Amino acid sequence: MDYLQIQGIKSLNGTIEISGAKNASLPLIAMTILAKNSVSIKNLPDVVDIKTLLKLLTNLGATCDFHDDKVLVDTSTITQTKATYDIVKTMRASILVLGPILARFGHCEVSLPGGCAIGQRPIDLHLKALEQMGAKININAGYVEASAPNGLKGCNINFDKITVTGTANIVMAAALADGNTTITNAAREPEVVQLCEILNANGVQIDGIGTAILTVHGTAGKCIDIKEFSVIPDRIEAGTYLCAGAITRCELSLSKVEPKHLGAVLSKLEEMGSSFTITEDTITIHPSQDIKPVKIVTQEYPAFPTDMQAQFLALATQADGVSIIEERLFENRFMHVSELQRMGADITLSGNIATVNGKNQLCGTDVMATDLRASSALVLAALVAEGKTDIHRIYHLDRGYDRLKEKLEAVGAKIQRLKE
Ligand code: UD1
Repeated sequence: MDYLQIQGIKSLNGTIEISGAKNASLPLIAMTILAKNSVSIKNLPDVVDIKTLLKLLTNLGATCDFHDDKVLVDTSTITQTKATYDIVKTMRASILVLGPILARFGHCEVSLPGGCAIGQRPIDLHLKALEQMGAKININAGYVEASAPNGLKGCNINFDKITVTGTANIVMAAALADGNTTITNAAREPEVVQLCEILNANGVQIDGIGTAILTVHGTAGKCIDIKEFSVIPDRIEAGTYLCAGAITRCELSLSKVEPKHLGAVLSKLEEMGSSFTITEDTITIHPSQDIKPVKIVTQEYPAFPTDMQAQFLALATQADGVSIIEERLFENRFMHVSELQRMGADITLSGNIATVNGKNQLCGTDVMATDLRASSALVLAALVAEGKTDIHRIYHLDRGYDRLKEKLEAVGAKIQRLKE
Protein backbone atom coordinates (compact mmCIF):
# COMPACT_ATOMS: atom_id res chain seq x y z
CA MET A 1 0.00 0.00 0.00
CA ASP A 2 1.19 3.52 -0.73
CA TYR A 3 1.39 6.42 1.68
CA LEU A 4 2.11 10.11 1.33
CA GLN A 5 4.96 11.76 3.16
CA ILE A 6 4.65 15.52 3.47
CA GLN A 7 7.29 17.83 4.87
CA GLY A 8 5.46 20.75 6.45
CA ILE A 9 5.97 24.50 6.56
CA LYS A 10 7.02 25.00 2.95
CA SER A 11 5.68 27.94 1.05
CA LEU A 12 3.53 27.35 -2.01
CA ASN A 13 3.35 29.46 -5.12
CA GLY A 14 1.97 29.00 -8.63
CA THR A 15 -1.09 27.78 -10.48
CA ILE A 16 -3.01 24.53 -10.12
CA GLU A 17 -5.19 23.32 -12.99
CA ILE A 18 -8.51 21.96 -11.79
CA SER A 19 -9.71 18.64 -13.23
CA GLY A 20 -13.20 17.62 -14.23
CA ALA A 21 -15.58 16.93 -11.36
CA LYS A 22 -15.68 13.33 -10.13
CA ASN A 23 -19.22 13.72 -8.82
CA ALA A 24 -20.41 15.08 -12.17
CA SER A 25 -18.55 12.43 -14.19
CA LEU A 26 -20.15 9.49 -12.36
CA PRO A 27 -23.81 10.21 -13.23
CA LEU A 28 -22.75 11.35 -16.72
CA ILE A 29 -21.04 8.02 -17.35
CA ALA A 30 -24.11 6.17 -16.00
CA MET A 31 -26.21 8.32 -18.35
CA THR A 32 -24.49 6.69 -21.37
CA ILE A 33 -26.69 3.64 -20.63
CA LEU A 34 -29.57 5.70 -22.05
CA ALA A 35 -27.76 6.30 -25.36
CA LYS A 36 -28.06 4.42 -28.61
CA ASN A 37 -24.76 5.86 -29.89
CA SER A 38 -21.18 5.70 -28.55
CA VAL A 39 -20.84 8.67 -26.21
CA SER A 40 -17.68 10.75 -25.96
CA ILE A 41 -17.03 12.50 -22.64
CA LYS A 42 -14.13 14.95 -22.20
CA ASN A 43 -12.44 16.45 -19.14
CA LEU A 44 -12.79 13.38 -16.93
CA PRO A 45 -10.54 13.28 -13.87
CA ASP A 46 -8.01 10.46 -13.65
CA VAL A 47 -9.32 9.00 -10.39
CA VAL A 48 -10.11 5.49 -9.21
CA ASP A 49 -13.88 6.04 -8.85
CA ILE A 50 -14.17 6.79 -12.56
CA LYS A 51 -12.24 3.62 -13.44
CA THR A 52 -14.45 1.65 -11.06
CA LEU A 53 -17.63 2.79 -12.79
CA LEU A 54 -16.14 2.12 -16.23
CA LYS A 55 -15.19 -1.36 -15.01
CA LEU A 56 -18.75 -1.90 -13.83
CA LEU A 57 -20.07 -0.91 -17.27
CA THR A 58 -17.48 -3.12 -18.96
CA ASN A 59 -18.61 -6.07 -16.80
CA LEU A 60 -22.15 -5.47 -18.04
CA GLY A 61 -20.89 -5.75 -21.62
CA ALA A 62 -20.28 -2.10 -22.56
CA THR A 63 -17.09 -0.96 -24.31
CA CYS A 64 -15.20 1.83 -22.57
CA ASP A 65 -12.14 3.40 -24.12
CA PHE A 66 -10.53 5.76 -21.55
CA HIS A 67 -7.45 7.75 -22.63
CA ASP A 68 -6.02 10.89 -21.06
CA ASP A 69 -9.11 12.79 -19.93
CA LYS A 70 -11.50 11.40 -22.52
CA VAL A 71 -13.69 8.29 -22.67
CA LEU A 72 -15.76 6.76 -25.42
CA VAL A 73 -18.55 4.58 -24.02
CA ASP A 74 -20.63 2.23 -26.13
CA THR A 75 -23.47 0.73 -24.10
CA SER A 76 -25.26 -0.82 -27.09
CA THR A 77 -23.43 -4.07 -26.33
CA ILE A 78 -24.68 -4.42 -22.73
CA THR A 79 -25.89 -7.97 -22.08
CA GLN A 80 -25.84 -8.14 -18.26
CA THR A 81 -27.94 -6.09 -15.86
CA LYS A 82 -26.40 -7.07 -12.53
CA ALA A 83 -23.98 -4.79 -10.65
CA THR A 84 -22.19 -7.17 -8.35
CA TYR A 85 -21.01 -6.70 -4.76
CA ASP A 86 -17.29 -6.79 -5.58
CA ILE A 87 -17.60 -3.46 -7.41
CA VAL A 88 -20.44 -1.79 -5.51
CA LYS A 89 -18.67 -2.32 -2.16
CA THR A 90 -15.72 -0.23 -3.39
CA MET A 91 -17.91 2.61 -4.61
CA ARG A 92 -21.38 3.47 -3.33
CA ALA A 93 -22.08 5.67 -6.36
CA SER A 94 -22.42 2.42 -8.37
CA ILE A 95 -26.10 2.72 -7.40
CA LEU A 96 -26.27 5.33 -10.20
CA VAL A 97 -26.65 2.53 -12.77
CA LEU A 98 -29.93 1.33 -11.23
CA GLY A 99 -32.19 4.00 -12.75
CA PRO A 100 -30.81 3.93 -16.30
CA ILE A 101 -30.46 0.12 -16.55
CA LEU A 102 -33.97 -0.42 -15.25
CA ALA A 103 -35.35 2.22 -17.63
CA ARG A 104 -33.62 0.72 -20.65
CA PHE A 105 -33.76 -3.03 -19.99
CA GLY A 106 -36.78 -3.38 -17.69
CA HIS A 107 -34.78 -5.13 -14.99
CA CYS A 108 -31.67 -4.56 -12.92
CA GLU A 109 -29.92 -6.00 -9.89
CA VAL A 110 -27.54 -3.92 -7.82
CA SER A 111 -25.79 -5.05 -4.70
CA LEU A 112 -26.85 -3.04 -1.63
CA PRO A 113 -23.97 -0.66 -0.93
CA GLY A 114 -24.08 -1.02 2.89
CA GLY A 115 -22.83 1.62 5.32
CA CYS A 116 -19.63 3.55 4.94
CA ALA A 117 -17.12 5.53 6.96
CA ILE A 118 -19.28 8.66 7.10
CA GLY A 119 -22.63 7.11 7.99
CA GLN A 120 -25.37 4.66 7.04
CA ARG A 121 -26.22 6.25 3.71
CA PRO A 122 -29.41 4.38 2.85
CA ILE A 123 -30.88 4.27 -0.66
CA ASP A 124 -34.52 4.06 0.41
CA LEU A 125 -35.44 7.28 -1.41
CA HIS A 126 -34.08 5.96 -4.73
CA LEU A 127 -36.09 2.75 -4.32
CA LYS A 128 -39.32 4.40 -3.19
CA ALA A 129 -39.24 6.74 -6.20
CA LEU A 130 -38.67 3.85 -8.63
CA GLU A 131 -41.60 2.00 -7.05
CA GLN A 132 -43.76 5.07 -7.61
CA MET A 133 -42.73 4.86 -11.27
CA GLY A 134 -44.10 1.34 -11.41
CA ALA A 135 -41.01 -0.74 -10.64
CA LYS A 136 -41.27 -3.88 -8.50
CA ILE A 137 -38.44 -3.90 -5.98
CA ASN A 138 -37.27 -6.86 -3.93
CA ILE A 139 -34.36 -6.99 -1.56
CA ASN A 140 -32.89 -10.45 -1.79
CA ALA A 141 -29.58 -11.79 -0.48
CA GLY A 142 -27.98 -8.37 -0.30
CA TYR A 143 -29.20 -7.27 -3.72
CA VAL A 144 -31.82 -4.84 -4.92
CA GLU A 145 -33.82 -6.66 -7.60
CA ALA A 146 -35.81 -4.20 -9.66
CA SER A 147 -38.09 -4.95 -12.56
CA ALA A 148 -40.43 -2.98 -14.77
CA PRO A 149 -41.32 -5.31 -17.64
CA ASN A 150 -43.76 -2.82 -19.12
CA GLY A 151 -41.46 0.15 -18.69
CA LEU A 152 -41.45 2.94 -16.11
CA LYS A 153 -44.30 5.42 -15.89
CA GLY A 154 -43.99 9.15 -15.27
CA CYS A 155 -45.43 10.32 -11.94
CA ASN A 156 -44.98 12.89 -9.16
CA ILE A 157 -42.13 12.20 -6.79
CA ASN A 158 -41.49 14.14 -3.61
CA PHE A 159 -38.15 13.41 -1.97
CA ASP A 160 -38.44 13.56 1.84
CA LYS A 161 -34.79 14.58 1.93
CA ILE A 162 -32.64 16.17 -0.74
CA THR A 163 -30.51 13.44 -2.28
CA VAL A 164 -27.87 14.08 -4.94
CA THR A 165 -27.42 10.61 -6.43
CA GLY A 166 -31.10 9.91 -5.75
CA THR A 167 -32.10 12.86 -7.92
CA ALA A 168 -29.64 11.83 -10.64
CA ASN A 169 -30.90 8.23 -10.58
CA ILE A 170 -34.55 9.22 -10.91
CA VAL A 171 -33.85 11.83 -13.60
CA MET A 172 -32.15 9.09 -15.65
CA ALA A 173 -34.97 6.61 -15.01
CA ALA A 174 -37.54 9.26 -15.93
CA ALA A 175 -35.68 10.09 -19.15
CA LEU A 176 -36.89 6.86 -20.77
CA ALA A 177 -40.19 6.61 -18.85
CA ASP A 178 -43.60 6.86 -20.42
CA GLY A 179 -44.95 10.35 -19.62
CA ASN A 180 -43.73 13.17 -17.41
CA THR A 181 -42.05 12.80 -14.04
CA THR A 182 -42.03 15.74 -11.65
CA ILE A 183 -39.45 15.56 -8.89
CA THR A 184 -40.06 17.90 -5.95
CA ASN A 185 -37.28 18.68 -3.45
CA ALA A 186 -34.72 17.76 -6.12
CA ALA A 187 -31.00 18.35 -5.52
CA ARG A 188 -29.67 21.55 -7.13
CA GLU A 189 -25.96 20.66 -7.04
CA PRO A 190 -24.05 21.75 -10.19
CA GLU A 191 -23.37 18.06 -10.89
CA VAL A 192 -27.12 17.33 -11.07
CA VAL A 193 -27.63 20.47 -13.15
CA GLN A 194 -25.06 19.31 -15.70
CA LEU A 195 -26.70 15.89 -16.00
CA CYS A 196 -30.06 17.58 -16.66
CA GLU A 197 -28.54 20.03 -19.15
CA ILE A 198 -26.89 17.26 -21.18
CA LEU A 199 -30.09 15.21 -21.28
CA ASN A 200 -32.10 18.32 -22.17
CA ALA A 201 -29.70 19.14 -25.02
CA ASN A 202 -29.96 15.60 -26.38
CA GLY A 203 -33.64 14.85 -26.71
CA VAL A 204 -35.03 14.60 -23.16
CA GLN A 205 -36.82 17.82 -22.27
CA ILE A 206 -36.33 18.79 -18.64
CA ASP A 207 -38.06 21.81 -17.12
CA GLY A 208 -36.90 23.58 -13.97
CA ILE A 209 -33.19 22.74 -14.32
CA GLY A 210 -31.30 24.20 -11.36
CA THR A 211 -34.45 24.49 -9.25
CA ALA A 212 -35.91 22.14 -6.63
CA ILE A 213 -38.74 21.08 -8.99
CA LEU A 214 -37.73 19.17 -12.09
CA THR A 215 -40.09 17.87 -14.76
CA VAL A 216 -38.59 15.22 -17.02
CA HIS A 217 -40.44 14.50 -20.26
CA GLY A 218 -39.81 10.80 -20.85
CA THR A 219 -39.15 9.31 -24.27
CA ALA A 220 -41.35 6.22 -23.67
CA GLY A 221 -38.47 3.81 -23.93
CA LYS A 222 -36.61 5.37 -26.86
CA CYS A 223 -32.86 5.57 -26.35
CA ILE A 224 -31.25 8.90 -27.23
CA ASP A 225 -28.30 10.20 -29.24
CA ILE A 226 -25.84 12.04 -27.00
CA LYS A 227 -23.32 14.45 -28.53
CA GLU A 228 -19.79 14.86 -27.14
CA PHE A 229 -19.53 17.07 -24.05
CA SER A 230 -17.05 18.16 -21.35
CA VAL A 231 -17.44 17.59 -17.61
CA ILE A 232 -17.65 20.70 -15.40
CA PRO A 233 -14.65 21.58 -13.18
CA ASP A 234 -14.41 19.92 -9.78
CA ARG A 235 -15.58 22.47 -7.20
CA ILE A 236 -14.43 20.33 -4.28
CA GLU A 237 -10.94 19.89 -5.69
CA ALA A 238 -10.85 23.66 -6.29
CA GLY A 239 -12.07 24.38 -2.75
CA THR A 240 -9.43 22.04 -1.32
CA TYR A 241 -6.59 23.88 -3.09
CA LEU A 242 -8.00 27.26 -2.04
CA CYS A 243 -7.77 25.93 1.53
CA ALA A 244 -4.16 24.94 0.79
CA GLY A 245 -3.45 28.58 -0.07
CA ALA A 246 -5.32 29.82 3.00
CA ILE A 247 -3.71 27.42 5.49
CA THR A 248 -0.14 27.99 4.22
CA ARG A 249 -0.91 31.74 3.84
CA CYS A 250 0.48 31.60 0.29
CA GLU A 251 -0.97 33.12 -2.84
CA LEU A 252 -2.15 30.30 -5.13
CA SER A 253 -4.00 30.47 -8.43
CA LEU A 254 -6.45 27.97 -9.89
CA SER A 255 -7.12 27.62 -13.60
CA LYS A 256 -9.97 25.85 -15.42
CA VAL A 257 -12.24 26.45 -12.44
CA GLU A 258 -15.89 27.55 -12.28
CA PRO A 259 -16.05 30.34 -9.67
CA LYS A 260 -19.87 30.40 -9.81
CA HIS A 261 -19.99 26.95 -8.18
CA LEU A 262 -17.85 28.04 -5.24
CA GLY A 263 -20.01 30.79 -3.72
CA ALA A 264 -20.36 29.38 -0.18
CA VAL A 265 -16.72 28.27 -0.04
CA LEU A 266 -15.35 31.65 -1.19
CA SER A 267 -17.62 33.46 1.22
CA LYS A 268 -16.37 31.40 4.22
CA LEU A 269 -12.74 31.91 3.14
CA GLU A 270 -13.46 35.64 2.95
CA GLU A 271 -14.87 35.57 6.48
CA MET A 272 -11.60 33.93 7.52
CA GLY A 273 -9.66 36.83 6.04
CA SER A 274 -8.78 35.82 2.46
CA SER A 275 -9.52 37.90 -0.61
CA PHE A 276 -9.62 36.82 -4.26
CA THR A 277 -8.98 37.88 -7.82
CA ILE A 278 -11.55 36.11 -9.96
CA THR A 279 -11.98 35.85 -13.73
CA GLU A 280 -14.35 33.68 -15.72
CA ASP A 281 -12.30 30.52 -15.13
CA THR A 282 -9.50 31.42 -12.69
CA ILE A 283 -9.32 32.25 -9.01
CA THR A 284 -6.29 33.60 -7.15
CA ILE A 285 -6.46 33.52 -3.39
CA HIS A 286 -4.74 36.31 -1.45
CA PRO A 287 -4.71 34.77 2.01
CA SER A 288 -4.63 36.69 5.23
CA GLN A 289 -1.63 36.22 7.53
CA ASP A 290 -4.05 36.11 10.48
CA ILE A 291 -6.78 33.58 9.91
CA LYS A 292 -10.09 34.46 11.59
CA PRO A 293 -12.31 31.81 13.21
CA VAL A 294 -15.53 30.84 11.47
CA LYS A 295 -18.99 29.30 11.96
CA ILE A 296 -19.98 26.72 9.36
CA VAL A 297 -23.09 24.62 8.89
CA THR A 298 -23.03 22.07 6.09
CA GLN A 299 -26.14 21.93 3.94
CA GLU A 300 -27.25 21.15 0.43
CA TYR A 301 -26.14 23.36 -2.49
CA PRO A 302 -26.00 26.33 -2.75
CA ALA A 303 -25.16 26.31 1.00
CA PHE A 304 -21.80 25.16 2.34
CA PRO A 305 -20.91 21.64 1.05
CA THR A 306 -20.35 18.73 3.42
CA ASP A 307 -17.54 17.67 1.06
CA MET A 308 -15.56 20.78 2.20
CA GLN A 309 -16.23 20.36 5.94
CA ALA A 310 -13.06 18.38 6.75
CA GLN A 311 -10.78 20.79 4.87
CA PHE A 312 -12.25 23.83 6.68
CA LEU A 313 -11.88 22.01 9.97
CA ALA A 314 -8.16 21.62 9.25
CA LEU A 315 -7.99 25.30 8.30
CA ALA A 316 -9.81 26.31 11.51
CA THR A 317 -7.00 24.75 13.58
CA GLN A 318 -4.85 27.64 12.31
CA ALA A 319 -7.41 30.40 13.01
CA ASP A 320 -6.96 32.72 16.00
CA GLY A 321 -10.00 31.86 18.11
CA VAL A 322 -12.88 29.43 18.35
CA SER A 323 -14.54 28.04 15.22
CA ILE A 324 -17.78 26.04 15.28
CA ILE A 325 -18.44 23.53 12.52
CA GLU A 326 -21.77 21.73 12.32
CA GLU A 327 -22.27 18.69 10.05
CA ARG A 328 -25.91 18.37 9.01
CA LEU A 329 -25.76 15.80 6.19
CA PHE A 330 -23.91 12.77 7.49
CA GLU A 331 -24.05 11.42 11.03
CA ASN A 332 -20.46 10.23 11.28
CA ARG A 333 -18.41 12.61 9.19
CA PHE A 334 -15.82 13.63 11.80
CA MET A 335 -13.36 10.73 11.57
CA HIS A 336 -10.58 13.18 10.68
CA VAL A 337 -10.96 14.89 14.06
CA SER A 338 -9.08 12.23 16.01
CA GLU A 339 -6.28 12.24 13.42
CA LEU A 340 -6.01 16.06 13.57
CA GLN A 341 -5.96 15.81 17.38
CA ARG A 342 -3.00 13.45 17.09
CA MET A 343 -1.24 16.21 15.16
CA GLY A 344 -1.89 18.63 18.04
CA ALA A 345 -5.22 20.23 17.10
CA ASP A 346 -7.53 21.27 19.94
CA ILE A 347 -10.98 20.10 18.82
CA THR A 348 -13.98 19.05 20.91
CA LEU A 349 -16.76 17.02 19.39
CA SER A 350 -20.30 17.07 20.66
CA GLY A 351 -22.70 15.14 18.46
CA ASN A 352 -22.54 16.69 15.02
CA ILE A 353 -20.77 19.87 16.16
CA ALA A 354 -17.01 20.34 16.26
CA THR A 355 -15.53 23.19 18.26
CA VAL A 356 -12.04 24.05 17.12
CA ASN A 357 -9.87 26.07 19.48
CA GLY A 358 -7.21 27.73 17.36
CA LYS A 359 -4.52 28.32 16.90
CA ASN A 360 -2.21 25.39 17.60
CA GLN A 361 1.10 24.52 15.97
CA LEU A 362 0.50 21.12 14.40
CA CYS A 363 3.19 18.42 14.52
CA GLY A 364 3.91 15.89 11.80
CA THR A 365 3.25 12.27 12.73
CA ASP A 366 1.65 9.10 11.29
CA VAL A 367 -2.01 9.59 10.45
CA MET A 368 -4.60 7.53 8.67
CA ALA A 369 -6.94 8.63 5.93
CA THR A 370 -10.49 7.46 6.72
CA ASP A 371 -12.54 8.74 3.81
CA LEU A 372 -11.99 10.80 0.71
CA ARG A 373 -12.41 14.34 2.02
CA ALA A 374 -11.04 13.52 5.48
CA SER A 375 -7.83 12.53 3.69
CA SER A 376 -7.48 15.91 2.04
CA ALA A 377 -7.91 17.58 5.44
CA LEU A 378 -4.88 15.61 6.64
CA VAL A 379 -2.91 16.76 3.60
CA LEU A 380 -3.76 20.39 4.41
CA ALA A 381 -2.78 19.95 8.05
CA ALA A 382 0.48 18.28 7.00
CA LEU A 383 1.39 21.27 4.81
CA VAL A 384 1.67 23.48 7.93
CA ALA A 385 2.77 20.87 10.48
CA GLU A 386 6.26 20.95 11.95
CA GLY A 387 8.26 18.04 10.54
CA LYS A 388 7.09 15.10 8.46
CA THR A 389 3.58 13.67 8.27
CA ASP A 390 3.01 10.19 6.89
CA ILE A 391 -0.56 9.81 5.63
CA HIS A 392 -1.54 6.16 5.34
CA ARG A 393 -4.42 4.50 3.46
CA ILE A 394 -4.29 7.05 0.67
CA TYR A 395 -6.41 4.85 -1.56
CA HIS A 396 -9.19 7.10 -0.28
CA LEU A 397 -7.45 10.10 -1.88
CA ASP A 398 -6.87 8.21 -5.11
CA ARG A 399 -10.63 7.66 -5.39
CA GLY A 400 -11.32 11.34 -5.90
CA TYR A 401 -8.27 13.59 -6.30
CA ASP A 402 -6.65 13.64 -9.73
CA ARG A 403 -2.82 13.66 -9.38
CA LEU A 404 -2.90 15.42 -6.01
CA LYS A 405 0.77 14.74 -5.29
CA GLU A 406 1.89 16.08 -8.69
CA LYS A 407 -0.32 19.15 -8.47
CA LEU A 408 0.89 20.11 -4.99
CA GLU A 409 4.51 19.32 -5.84
CA ALA A 410 4.33 21.64 -8.86
CA VAL A 411 3.44 24.56 -6.58
CA GLY A 412 6.26 23.86 -4.14
CA ALA A 413 5.00 21.31 -1.63
CA LYS A 414 7.49 18.71 -0.45
CA ILE A 415 5.44 15.58 -0.93
CA GLN A 416 6.42 12.04 -1.77
CA ARG A 417 4.44 8.91 -2.53
CA LEU A 418 6.11 5.94 -0.85
CA LYS A 419 5.45 2.23 -0.35
CA GLU A 420 4.61 0.91 3.15
C1 UD1 B 1 -23.39 12.83 -2.94
C2 UD1 B 1 -21.94 13.01 -3.26
C3 UD1 B 1 -21.13 13.16 -1.97
C4 UD1 B 1 -21.70 14.28 -1.11
C5 UD1 B 1 -23.21 14.09 -0.91
C6 UD1 B 1 -23.85 15.26 -0.21
C7 UD1 B 1 -21.63 11.79 -5.32
C8 UD1 B 1 -21.10 10.59 -6.00
N1 UD1 B 1 -21.49 11.84 -4.00
O1 UD1 B 1 -23.54 11.63 -2.19
O2 UD1 B 1 -19.78 13.45 -2.32
O3 UD1 B 1 -21.08 14.27 0.15
O4 UD1 B 1 -23.87 13.94 -2.17
O5 UD1 B 1 -23.63 16.44 -0.91
O6 UD1 B 1 -22.15 12.69 -5.94
N2 UD1 B 1 -30.31 9.74 2.15
C9 UD1 B 1 -31.32 8.92 2.63
N3 UD1 B 1 -31.91 8.05 1.75
C10 UD1 B 1 -31.56 7.96 0.44
C11 UD1 B 1 -30.52 8.80 -0.04
C12 UD1 B 1 -29.93 9.69 0.84
O7 UD1 B 1 -31.66 8.96 3.81
O8 UD1 B 1 -32.14 7.15 -0.29
C13 UD1 B 1 -29.64 10.67 3.08
C14 UD1 B 1 -28.14 10.37 3.25
O9 UD1 B 1 -27.93 9.37 4.23
C15 UD1 B 1 -27.61 11.71 3.66
C16 UD1 B 1 -28.47 12.69 2.85
O10 UD1 B 1 -29.65 11.97 2.50
O11 UD1 B 1 -27.82 11.95 5.02
C17 UD1 B 1 -27.82 13.21 1.60
O12 UD1 B 1 -27.30 12.12 0.86
P1 UD1 B 1 -27.13 12.14 -0.73
O13 UD1 B 1 -27.33 13.52 -1.24
O14 UD1 B 1 -27.96 11.05 -1.30
O15 UD1 B 1 -25.60 11.76 -0.87
P2 UD1 B 1 -24.97 10.95 -2.05
O16 UD1 B 1 -25.76 11.22 -3.28
O17 UD1 B 1 -24.74 9.54 -1.63
